[in-house]
Amino acid sequence: MTQLFVTTREGDLRTLDATPGLSVMEVIRDGGIDELLALCGGCLSCATCHVVVDPADAGRLLPISSEEADLLDGLDHRAPTSRLACQIPFDDALDGLRVTVAPDA
Ligand code: FES
Repeated sequence: MTQLFVTTREGDLRTLDATPGLSVMEVIRDGGIDELLALCGGCLSCATCHVVVDPADAGRLLPISSEEADLLDGLDHRAPTSRLACQIPFDDALDGLRVTVAPDA
């Protein structure tokens, strides 16, 4: 089983079993971390699935789209490795990816 490591806003490190084919947002939601609201369900319209990818892992991800970048630009807490978790398809190559749930907007 592939795994995703998630640090919550409180600083707790959670290890989630991650099913390839789901998005990182879906893995986090299915893992019971409800602080990631993901209000639009992955339609790329809410930005409430904001995570910060560990800089050491950022190069493992597909490039960011202009639509995702535009939504991130509207956030107060955008970091250099910020991503919207619904826009990261999880696959075997991302086993061990580390992300942190971003602060509330
Ligand atoms: S869940 Fe709404 S943009 Fe990702």
